[in-house]
Formats: sequence, structure tokens, C-alpha cells
Amino acid sequence: MEKFVIRGGRELHGTVKVSGSKNASLPILFASILSGRLELTNVPDLRDVSTTCTILEFMGFSVERSADRVKVVEKEVIPEAPYELVRTMRASILALGPLLARFGRAKVSLPGGCAIGLRPVDLHLKGLSKMGAEIEISHGYIIAKVNGRLKGADITLDFPTVGGTENLLMAAVLAEGRTVIRNAAKEPEIVDLAKALKSAGAHIEGEGTDVIVVEGRRELSPISYSVMPDRIEAGTFLSAVATAGGEITVEDFPVETLKTVIDKFREAGLEIEEISPSKVRVRKKGRLTGTDITTQPYPGFPTDMQAQFMAAMCTAEGISVIKETIFENRFMHVLELQRMGADLKIEGNTVVVKGVERLTGAKVTATDLRASASLVVAGLGAENTTEVYRIYHLDRGYERLEEKLKALGADIERVPSELSY
Ligand code: UD1
Repeated sequence: MEKFVIRGGRELHGTVKVSGSKNASLPILFASILSGRLELTNVPDLRDVSTTCTILEFMGFSVERSADRVKVVEKEVIPEAPYELVRTMRASILALGPLLARFGRAKVSLPGGCAIGLRPVDLHLKGLSKMGAEIEISHGYIIAKVNGRLKGADITLDFPTVGGTENLLMAAVLAEGRTVIRNAAKEPEIVDLAKALKSAGAHIEGEGTDVIVVEGRRELSPISYSVMPDRIEAGTFLSAVATAGGEITVEDFPVETLKTVIDKFREAGLEIEEISPSKVRVRKKGRLTGTDITTQPYPGFPTDMQAQFMAAMCTAEGISVIKETIFENRFMHVLELQRMGADLKIEGNTVVVKGVERLTGAKVTATDLRASASLVVAGLGAENTTEVYRIYHLDRGYERLEEKLKALGADIERVPSELSY
């Protein structure tokens, strides 16, 4: 086990490049099940990417990784994703649609409970059933099969689920006839998945809007694609300047995909200049002002930035009201931030933040991916030393975060943890 030791209070200066997106890489890697072959670049070196590669290998694909490149080639496929692998990464459910579409059957462990809420997959299953799949849940597994090919269907999602939209989109690409996905999620990572599928000849229209139309094909050619950069990593660097101060340039990411977050940080008083469509300069001049956010599906404020934004508001002047509407239990960072002196009050799905002058370093424990990022962000601006335990959560989704922060002048180190849990 490892932990971060952060000596806070150093301003950040310099330029940081954003890595490839985790949430785009995972579905595109699972899309290799549809095409049998894939070559992907700009893939970040993350634990979730390794888990996905291990699942593909288990299922009978050969996977080669070097630097930011991943090559997948189909061998003898067993369409099964076991509990031991799925339990560490909920996104494993994304194997279901592609397996069914390509092999007519699939056995995928139910993802199970998750620290940030119940996160059911009922909408994925409902959509696949509408496409002709017979689905049963048995001994913790989703067992699905279809007679012949999946059939195109008109599906209206009850909620614009990101993973559900991705699963159904992938299934539709090899289904017979036309599939319409209504109330689809509009996240940029879904657009990226659609682009990757199109690189292999898929017929998709409307990605990025709430109606996606897919004309199914019998087969795809190999996927060859470069993953989009990670907008949430970019946003996390904005939060870091919001707490630590300084002036940095964040580059190599599509600025328009982070508009809502940029606008909220501007409202709070952070200076953000859009130098180009892929580059911003961020500067903190004085204390920020408390600002309210409500998480929403894209293009609303992303739930994946809620914890980091809250960390920034802990020392802003006045009150901030932070409302989480996507996940029912995504406030685990609150207790930890309180240990650093933050004045936070949870009221249902809302946290009221009363800005304090400064946070003070403490020992804190990471509970999930974005919560860990928020503790690092808080630690960078806090007085004295902050130690963040269980950073394996952070390694699921951030590539070399401490190295990137160090290069910007932060005093942060990864050291062995004295705790074994
Ligand atoms: C994806 C992202 C995650 C992000 C989230 C919301 C990946 C790998 N993960 O997760 O980082 O926080 O989008 O932007 O891309 N729901 C149902 N039934 C379903 C599916 C979802 O009720 O069948 C609910 C969930 O419980 C949750 C909400 O819908 O409350 C959003 O979930 P969803 O959009 O599916 O998130 P993920 O795809 O799991």
C-alpha cells in the first residue's frame, strides 16, 4: 500500500499536458469484442485500463501494450467476465452488449455494490431485452443469449445513463436493422466511442445528441483510433490552482467539453483564459467566492468534478451549495475534508459549504476515485502536511498525477504506507 505526503501551500506554475481519457478508453477497448481487432493510441496507463485488458485476455483476446498504444487481437473467445475481475471495475458491464451482439451469448458478473451508490444496470438490461436478448440473473451473474442476431429496436432510456447508452450503442452496431436510442447520454466520451466504431465502418448518427440512430451491420473492420483527452483530469488541474494558487497552462484537451466547469470556476473568481480550442491558462488572484453547483448529465456540471469543486470551495469566501443529482451517495469526501477543518453540512443530496480561511493538513483516507482527487486538491492548498491513504483509488483514473503536480511545483510524494489496508 502507498500514500501521498503533501506539504501544502506551494503555488503551481508551468504547463501540464492532459492524458488520454479513462472513460473513453474503457468502452472503446470493450468495442474490440465487436471488431475482433483494435489498435488504440493515447491510452492512459491506469489501473482500470489494465483491468479491462485482463478481462479481454481472460475472454480469449491477445492484448499487447506499449507506451500509450494497445493492440487487441481475437483468438478463441469465451464470452464470460468473471466476478473476480468485474468486482474491481464496474465498467466491466460494457462487455455485455458487445459479447451478445458478436457471439449471441454472454455471461457477465453483476457489478454489485459500489462505494458511491447502488448504481444498478437495469436500463442496460431492459434495452438489450428489447433487442431480443433473453436475460436471466443467476448466482450473481447476468446470463444473456439471443436467437440469431440482436434485432434493431426503438429504445427510450428512463435516464440518460452513460454506460447504458454505450452498451446499447455497441450492441446496435452489429444488430439486424435500425436501432434508435432516445434520451441517450450526450457525454463527449460517447461521441468518442461512436467515432472509434465509425473508424471500423459502423453506421451511427446523432451521437452527442439525445437521439442516436444506428444501422446495424453484419461485421466491422478493425478499429484504429486515438482516444480523446481526459476532460476530468483537466478540470482537476483547475481545482488544484483554485486551492494552491499560482498560474498554469493546461493543454491538449478539448476545452469546449469542460465549458460548464470553466464557467463555474470563473464565477468563483478564478481567471481562465482560453488560449486555443485545446489550451487554457488558469490564474488565481486572491480568495475565491463561494459558488453553487448542481451535478447534471452532460452538458451540465459533471458529477466526476463535484468532489474537486467542493475542495476548492472549502476556502472560498461565503457559502456554496453543492447538489449531487446523479449518484445518491457521493459525499464520502465530506467527512475527510471536515478532518482538514472544512465547514460542511450534509442535507440530503446537498452539501452546504461555509468557506473557512484555510484548511489544515491531516491524515485522510481516499474512498473512491474522485474523492481521492479532492483530498489531493485540498492538501495542495492546506497548511502543513496532509497524508492521503488508499491512493489505489486514485490510480484507477489518474495517470502519474503526483509527477505532473510535482513538475508544476507541488510538494507531493508517493511513499509506502504504514497501514496495510
Ligand atoms: C459513467 C462514468 C462515471 C461517471 C458517470 C456519470 C465511465 C466508465 N464511468 O458511469 O465516471 O461518474 O458516468 O457521468 O464512463 N442508472 C440506473 N440504471 C442503469 C444505469 C444507471 O438507475 O441501468 C443510474 C445510476 O445508478 C446512477 C445514474 O443512473 O445513479 C448515472 O449512471 P451512469 O450514467 O450509468 O454512470 P456510469 O455509466 O456507471
